[in-house]
Amino acid sequence: MNFENLFAERMSVMKRSSIREILKLTARPEVISFAGGLPAPELFPTERFAEAAAKVITEQGQQALQYSPTEGMAELRELIAGRLSTPDFHIDPANVLMVTGSQQGLDLICRIFLNDSDKMVVENPTYLGMLMASRPYHPRYLPVETDDDGIVIDTLDDALEARPKMVYTVPNFQNPQGVTLSTERREQLIDRTYNRSLVVIEDNPYGELRYSGSDQPSLISMDAAKRGASGVEGNIIYLGTFSKILAPGLRIGWIVANDAIIDKLVQIKQSADLHSSTLTQYIAYEVSRDGFLESHIGKLREVYRQRRDVMLDALETYFPAEVTWRKPEGGLFLMVTLPEQVDAYDLLQRALEYDVAFVPGGDFHIGKSGWNTFRLNFSNAQPDMIVEGVKRLAALLKEELVTPAAAHK
Ligand SMILES: Cc1ncc(COP(=O)(O)O)c(C=O)c1O
Repeated sequence: MNFENLFAERMSVMKRSSIREILKLTARPEVISFAGGLPAPELFPTERFAEAAAKVITEQGQQALQYSPTEGMAELRELIAGRLSTPDFHIDPANVLMVTGSQQGLDLICRIFLNDSDKMVVENPTYLGMLMASRPYHPRYLPVETDDDGIVIDTLDDALEARPKMVYTVPNFQNPQGVTLSTERREQLIDRTYNRSLVVIEDNPYGELRYSGSDQPSLISMDAAKRGASGVEGNIIYLGTFSKILAPGLRIGWIVANDAIIDKLVQIKQSADLHSSTLTQYIAYEVSRDGFLESHIGKLREVYRQRRDVMLDALETYFPAEVTWRKPEGGLFLMVTLPEQVDAYDLLQRALEYDVAFVPGGDFHIGKSGWNTFRLNFSNAQPDMIVEGVKRLAALLKEELVTPAAAHK
């Protein structure tokens, strides 16, 4: 039986994530993969999880295995609110909604805001998962340029002229580029958006993974300061997650937003999954409490800083001069730009013959640009494997630059 004509129209714009398809190809053990966004599994605090899980089941089993409020576990919301608050900016736990990974947060946000053809500002390139979450609503994407300091404000000004409903940004160590929005640009962004009829989505999965430079204030706190508010009142919607700082298998993220937006998000989340897993919220709280999360993040920073430095050194040493790359101050990724005639998809096919993998940048871009870029992850491989992988890529690139494959049509 042919089901094709039964599927809803919105499925026609959905396609399988090329990243997931590529990850399948990299499953061979001999492949050094810089493709996924995976944290280092050997750093998962498994013992702490084992103790926490046993404690939760033994001491709080009846609550932890029960249905629970859509908003999330009270203690966990308090912990998140406390970690994000500053002396001048107080987040009430009522403004925190627990979600099933920040990816669900993006999906729910798109569901409550986007009508067909609504305009949405995105960094170009941007996070593929947000493109996937928004595509069913056929938004008109307004791509803005980025450089080493994040969004180029002139291009944001042009995009705002078109009266978008939403601005989506990953301000810290952006996926896929690795760039961070500077303090000055943050101020300019808030200046341009705080009194407009739109929402700004501040997606921040990587902010705590900083290895050099200084921490930047969150957009949501800057917006509050601009309004003279001490709490969450404005048009910034902040997303965070345990995926990169604890474990992605938990599937726990959070949205921080004003009362009216949280209210709508709770309604739509009820229709999606009633609530995020009670059990994993209890376990995540038990793992994180008493300062454990902070000390764990400290360890992650040390290991990832070393891996970032090893990758940057190896790129500097082995890559041909015609190739350039971003130098991230944190996060898990950096982006490489090849000479214009080299197609990173074609290059990936050949890279797999060299047993090394990356994600081509085309799919992260709006429009027909970025075919000559690719994203490298530096958190998942051990330092010696990072060097070996970069050497393999460098050897391939040197060959490719002599006899380039046909440019993408
Ligand atoms: C920018 C960005 N937003 C959201 C997510 C989704 O994270 P989660 O595991 O919390 O759903 C990711 C994951 O890689 C990401 O890079």
